[in-house]
Amino acid sequence: MELNDIQGLLIRGHSDMPEAAYLMLSITQPEEARAWLRSQLDNINHSGVKPADKRLHLAFTFSGLEKLGAGQFLERGFSVEFVQGMSTDYKSRVLGDLEESAPENWQWGGPKNEAIDLVWMIFAPDKTTLASILAENAAVLPASGIKLITTLDTQGNPHNREHFGFRDGIAQPIIDGLPKKGTAENTVAAGEFIFGYENGYNQLPESPLVKSASDPNNLLPVDPKGSGLKDLGRNGSYMVFRQLVQDVPGFWETTASAVKNENPDATVEDCIFLASKMVGRWPNGHPITLSPTEEKPYSKEEDDFLYAEKDPHGFGCPLGSHIRRANPRDAMPDNKPKGSVKISNRHRILRRGRSFGPPFAESFDPRDLMKAEDDGQLRGLQFICFNTNIQRQFEFVQHQWSNNTKFAGLYSDPDPILGIKDSRDKHDTHDFTIQAEPVRRKIQGLRRHVEVIGGAYFFMPGLQALRFLAQFNPSTL
Ligand code: HEM
Repeated sequence: MELNDIQGLLIRGHSDMPEAAYLMLSITQPEEARAWLRSQLDNINHSGVKPADKRLHLAFTFSGLEKLGAGQFLERGFSVEFVQGMSTDYKSRVLGDLEESAPENWQWGGPKNEAIDLVWMIFAPDKTTLASILAENAAVLPASGIKLITTLDTQGNPHNREHFGFRDGIAQPIIDGLPKKGTAENTVAAGEFIFGYENGYNQLPESPLVKSASDPNNLLPVDPKGSGLKDLGRNGSYMVFRQLVQDVPGFWETTASAVKNENPDATVEDCIFLASKMVGRWPNGHPITLSPTEEKPYSKEEDDFLYAEKDPHGFGCPLGSHIRRANPRDAMPDNKPKGSVKISNRHRILRRGRSFGPPFAESFDPRDLMKAEDDGQLRGLQFICFNTNIQRQFEFVQHQWSNNTKFAGLYSDPDPILGIKDSRDKHDTHDFTIQAEPVRRKIQGLRRHVEVIGGAYFFMPGLQALRFLAQFNPSTL
């Protein structure tokens, strides 16, 4: 694989860079913006190196590419999802971005906000370095034909937990072709995440192509499918970005009252048990399918667990839990394990998100989260994922699996963590079913505690493609 051409964030999450910020930008003067881009080309991190001082990444929305001349150089190949973006009415119904989460209410990326053209992603080893890079940008960008729309911050924590108190950033597909090896079941074709390589169907993913005449310096490779056009996509990917607000006290209050409805004597540990069943892992990350009744120490070696052999009916990890829906692994309902892995792996995403906002309790321990007073602060997840087919990967997972209340033969159960229901479901509350013998437990009265306040689909180009965008000269066409 051409690691020196692939932006580093696609290959690694930069966990050695605990500080990060994402600058949402709009292009006001394309000529100046192209000059700025040229000045930054050598600063953008590729996956062949891991510089210790900073890592910078760049990705564009379709409107950003249009401002840089896509109308002239682009022939075809960007997907409808990318071109239309995340905030159309149809997309809101597909993703469940309704009511409070509707794009009309978003703080960025919605129809009432200024258009986002590009995101400048800054990863730094410490707060001082991050602050100085942000200050440098604040000084340079306005004079470079680029306007800062908003800066999205992140806040890491030593426990690697998301705000509801569960260890996050664990399960990831292993990209076939990279030195890092994993189990056969968890190894996924590179073309599912990076353009220019074969995908899960042994085909090259549909890649954006540009007119040969727009590339007089031969920066881009020729379309391997033989069209005679140049391949802008190679070594790039689509990046899904959604800012998700988590209502931590609401989540734990609802969980506690649902448990107490069933059993008025329920304890804090009973609440944690229920929430762990909803996630599919214990708060420390230990998979609940491997240890259904008690939280055992977390070990990375156990993350490649499967469901079909030992937990086919969801008695350990419920069928409707967050992780079992988002990746059913070898237990897709109505499929044998081998076929199931094949299907699951055609809907994988590479997650690269980070939390934002202050911790609700410093320890991130659910016991402390349940006790803490509501501080009214905004906190949540800057959800980021990569895929080469937004519809078949991210949107499929969100629409067909997470938001589907009938997933795996369930009846009124959306993803219990996201709580986003199919747009046709008009009930205020929803259920969560815990499969068990002799009878299942049906938890009722659950609510949505994750709302969307911004989002966009981006294209993260490879380094040569960035060079092409920076050097494109409309007058040569
Ligand atoms: C605020 C919102 C969210 C929270 C709190 C959350 C939390 C978690 C947690 C705690 C895990 C288990 C740890 C891990 O494997 O990393 C997980 C896994 C996962 N989540 Fe989420 N998540 C959120 C949003 C989403 C969204 C929007 C999607 C995609 C539509 C998603 C897809 C996944 C996937 C694919 C996995 C790994 C499943 C596996 O392979 O086992 N998550 N999430």
